[in-house]
Order: sequence, then structure tokens, then C-alpha cells
Amino acid sequence: MASTGISLVILVSYILFVATNCSAAGLSTTHYSKTCPSVSAVVKQEVTKILNKDKNLAGALVRLQFHDCWVNGCDGSVLLSGNQAERAANTNFMLRGFTEIDQIKTAVEANCPQTVSCADIIALAARDAVVLTGGKSWSVPLGRRDSRRSVASDADAVLPFPVLTFDQLVQNFAAKGFNSREMVVLSGSHTIGRTHCNGIAPNLYNFTGQDGLTNPNLDPAFAASLKQKCPKGNRVNIVFMDKTKNTFDLDYYKQVLAKKGVFTTDDALITTPAGLNAVKSLVKPGSSFFSEFAKAMNKMSKLSPLTGSAGEIRKQCQFVN
Ligand code: HEM
Ligand SMILES: *[C@@H]1O[C@H](CO)[C@@H](O)[C@H](O)[C@H]1NC(C)=O
Repeated sequence: MASTGISLVILVSYILFVATNCSAAGLSTTHYSKTCPSVSAVVKQEVTKILNKDKNLAGALVRLQFHDCWVNGCDGSVLLSGNQAERAANTNFMLRGFTEIDQIKTAVEANCPQTVSCADIIALAARDAVVLTGGKSWSVPLGRRDSRRSVASDADAVLPFPVLTFDQLVQNFAAKGFNSREMVVLSGSHTIGRTHCNGIAPNLYNFTGQDGLTNPNLDPAFAASLKQKCPKGNRVNIVFMDKTKNTFDLDYYKQVLAKKGVFTTDDALITTPAGLNAVKSLVKPGSSFFSEFAKAMNKMSKLSPLTGSAGEIRKQCQFVN
């Protein structure tokens, strides 16, 4: 009797263990090993082609993962077209990479029709973009499915506006399970890509919501040169967030430390002792930035995905089936 009881306890614990571990994320690195073993290679090949044409698009692909996963999880919702869709949100200003994701999806569909989700393609492409610009790799567990919901106000409710303070940034990331160090590490993605003056303007002309005020913490010569690139009222001129715009390196943190962060939120990283210490440790030669970034992106890619029979595998990434 006693041994049957013990066996039962062991069996029940085992079932609970398996159940929690499978449903925790429901993602696996071998998800497509039977149905689409080529998927990682095909995505990498297409991302390579895309970056060979324009290396700055790496930034577009990395921003897509952040903006997809933060809003109701990594479910491809950011890609859906529509006037009221996430893409139309203020926080998604000038979001790009849609035609590039379509290009990747077309290549994947040619090998494995209606098998691989757009959400998985975003996660793979973001990883490949980081690696191809000089970052460290991470494993991308797969099996996400695509959502049918995409609402602009969902995005503006959770994505950070570029005027937040350090504490507000900490709160924003804490809501998704990331600590302040991970927030500083993930902000390091601004080492690639570009911005438009829209996100910079408040730092130059409306700091803390005060008309005409420039962020007083900015290096004055840097602020003056930014104002030339972004005259008052201009929203669309393009500025690179660090000098080595197509290289995943420590230059972003160097600029932030030198008081040359373009957004209020970049500069905010050095406005508290905790943030300043984090930036100083990340900017050191041989720093753990690259491995910490890889780890944080892997973690981000697992934010509440749709799995099993939830959602769908979209045929075209910008449209529901
Ligand atoms: C910490 C809060 C953050 C704020 C306030 C913020 C804000 C912004 C803004 C305003 C832009 C410029 C968009 C444009 O005008 O084209 C931008 C670009 C970008 N962001 Fe962030 N961001 C944040 C964190 C992140 C994170 C966590 C990631 C990814 C891990 C990320 C990745 C990028 C990339 C790669 C670009 C360049 C996009 C391109 O080249 O098209 N950002 N961000
Ligand atoms: C400055 O910021 C405040 C607060 O966010 C806003 O109400 C105001 O319209 C902004 N002014 C300009 C010129 O953008």
C-alpha cells in the first residue's frame, strides 16, 4: 500500500512537472524539426540578403521583436496592416521591416507551405540581424502562433514613449518581468538602426513637457548639432543613434556616458546611480553586454506566445487568413 502511495505521488509530481514545463512557454528549439527543418537556415539566408543590400535594416528587424513581444506577447500582431492596427500607434512611429518580413516569409513558404508562423520569423530574424551586425547569438525556441488581434491602443498602452524617466522605464520593463539591469541592457539595441526627429524633439525642445526646454544634461555641442539635424517642428529627418549605426557594439553606451543620448530615455540611463553603474559596467572593454543582451532577447522572445491550437499560421504576415 505504502509503495503504491509513493508511486502515485511520484507519478502525479512527474505529470505536474511535465505539464508546467511544456505549458510554461510551449516553445521548443525542435518545434519544426520534422515539419520544416530548413526554417532557421532559410531565414538566415534571407536576412543575410536583406542586410547585404542595406545593413541598417538590422535595426528594423530587432525593433520588430521588441514591439511585437511587448504588446500581448510574441504573436506577430505588430505585422498586421490596418489604420487602427498596432502599426498605427504613436509608439510604432516609422516602424519598418514589413516588406523584409514578407520576403523572408515567401522564402519560408516555398520550402514549407503554411507551417511557420510570422511570430517565429520575427524572433529568428531579430537574432540573425544582431549576429550579422556583430552581436552574440542566442537560441530561439519556436512554435509561436499568429494572433488575429492588432489594436493600436494596445501598443501605446505598453510600449515606452521616448520621454520616460529612469523610474518609469524600470516600471515599464518590470511589468514584463525584466529588471532594471535588463532594461539598460536591452536599451543597448540602439547601437544599431536609426531614428527620426519625432522621438528626439522632446529631448531638444520640450524636455519634461516644458515648451522650449532642452534637456540640460546633454552635452551642449551635441545638443546644438542635433538641433541642426532636427530643426524645431521637424519629425521626419533621420538621425543615427550612435556613430557606428550598422555595428552591434559598445558605441551606444559610450555616447550615453558622454551625454550624447538622442532620446530623453537614452540619457535617462545615467540619471540614477543604479543606471549609471550599469552603463559604466556595460561599456567596459570585454564587458558582458553581448551575452547579457543575447540572454535578454531570448527571454523577451518567450513572452506569452500563442501555442497549440490558439491563433493561426498566417499565410501572409500582414493579413489574417
Ligand atoms: C527603453 C525604452 C525604449 C524607447 C523609449 C525606445 C524608443 C525608440 C524610438 C523613438 C526609436 C526611433 C523610431 C524612429 O523614429 O524610426 C527607436 C528605434 C529603435 N529601437 Fe527603441 N526604444 C526603447 C527600447 C528598445 C528596445 C528594448 C529595443 C530592442 C531590444 C529597441 C530597439 C530599437 C531599434 C533596433 C531601433 C532602430 C529602428 C530602425 O532602425 O528602424 N528599442 N526606439
Ligand atoms: C510639450 O509637452 C507637453 C506635455 O507632454 C505637451 O502638453 C505639449 O503639447 C508639448 N509641446 C509641444 C510644443 O510639443
